[in-house]
Amino acid sequence: MGAEIILLDEPFAAVDPEHRHELQVLLKKLVDQGHGISVSDHDTSGYKNLITDLYRIENRHIACIDSTAWSPFFKQDVNDSIVTNDEFNESVFSMAHVTVNNGKQSILKNSSFEWAKDKITLITGPNGIGKSSLLLTFARLHDYEGSLLYQRKLRDKLRKKIYARKVGLVFQNAADQFLNITVSEEVEQARAHSHHADYWTTEKVDQCMQKLNLIGLEKHSVYELSGGQQKKLQILIMLIIAPDTLLLDEPLSGLDTNSIQHVMQIIKQSSNDLEQSIIMISHQTHGIIQYIDYHVRFDQNGLKYESVVNS
Ligand SMILES: Nc1ncnc2c1ncn2[C@@H]1O[C@H](COP(=O)(O)OP(=O)(O)OP(=O)(O)O)[C@@H](O)[C@H]1O
Ligand SMILES: [Mg+2]
Repeated sequence: MGAEIILLDEPFAAVDPEHRHELQVLLKKLVDQGHGISVSDHDTSGYKNLITDLYRIENRHIACIDSTAWSPFFKQDVNDSIVTNDEFNESVFSMAHVTVNNGKQSILKNSSFEWAKDKITLITGPNGIGKSSLLLTFARLHDYEGSLLYQRKLRDKLRKKIYARKVGLVFQNAADQFLNITVSEEVEQARAHSHHADYWTTEKVDQCMQKLNLIGLEKHSVYELSGGQQKKLQILIMLIIAPDTLLLDEPLSGLDTNSIQHVMQIIKQSSNDLEQSIIMISHQTHGIIQYIDYHVRFDQNGLKYESVVNS
């Protein structure tokens, strides 16, 4: 719109890496044309050669970081970008000749694919390719043609109510998940419906709330939380409900680096302790590969196991 100054608040949170790069180049062009741009972001990838100033807000202080001290802010975790994708015997979902359409668009065509049981699988891929639609199909919220088995049974053979208890979905948009007003009401309701109430004790829940920096927010309305706080609460309540299979649609978007680590640790521990199958979509892959057992790339050629995760 030609504004002289442009303020961007986590503009790339749900943008795939390729388009993120294209948009960053575009921002640079605008700067060269004389526009001033301020961006706030948790993910610093791609910014190093674009920016002139770097500020950090911490403990109610804003500090300008001297360029000689920038390197810790732009660490690239190149060493942890390989996923071994070991062979597996048991599948949580088995797809045979599955076709998924969205409106007039075909998202998957005649696709056959196996998804590992009791493991953590990461899906990456460009915006609009059909990742969310695939999770909705697994969660029985989207139609398909062909054969889709959930633990050796046809997806639609199980009663809907039973299926909903076995397969849980963390939606891309956090606000779609909430049913109550306050944080503690959400947590209490999740505990009341937990399939592993013995595991999710008051102590364990408090520990996780602490780790996720949600302590002190119990009486707050869920709609007064920041984007990242909403996301963390959304993930925690689904972990407390503890379905056998948990589908997570971009659980890490908008989270700071520490929160990403804590969320991944809690997911990994719960998956190990309760033998849960986890399938998660994420554009943000820095620092998470160590928690991942399988990586599936979903692009124009369909679904494929890939050991290298490009971020
Ligand atoms: N309700 C809908 N009706 C018709 N088409 C839709 C609908 N929702 C999504 N689509 C189309 O289906 C395709 C896949 O969408 P989907 O949300 O599954 O993509 P995605 O891979 O999750 O993308 P992103 O990375 O942006 O979240 C998109 O091209 C989109 O335009
Ligand atoms: Mg999506």
